[in-house]
Amino acid sequence: MPAPIRKINLDAAFDRFSAHWQPRVLGAVNDAEVKIARLSGPFVWHRHADADELFLVLQGRLRIELRDGTAALPPVELAPGELVIVPRGVEHRPVAAADCRVLLLEPAGTVNTGDTADARATPGIPLD
Ligand code: NI
Repeated sequence: MPAPIRKINLDAAFDRFSAHWQPRVLGAVNDAEVKIARLSGPFVWHRHADADELFLVLQGRLRIELRDGTAALPPVELAPGELVIVPRGVEHRPVAAADCRVLLLEPAGTVNTGDTADARATPGIPLD
């Protein structure tokens, strides 16, 4: 029995939670999951050894800082309607304006903090 097909309204989905850096899982697309998150301020530097990670900004501003070892790479500045794909293995740190909203696409089970220990680490929380 396939899962029921249901429409998701993003504004209504964001209204169901308020915590920052705690992605909600909206559903799966093959081996990837679609998540949404509220972001605010700087996150932790981290990398995902086996996961490419897509960030699509829906509201607010997001800067993705990047580095290769200790060498800084040019950061990516995202406005609403803009996205970036961070390739697996590339160290990155999202830095968000107040209450930035993003949609994420990444392999199911990808932990937001990657290889870095942090109290905000989560593979995503089901949207209830
Ligand atoms: Ni990441």
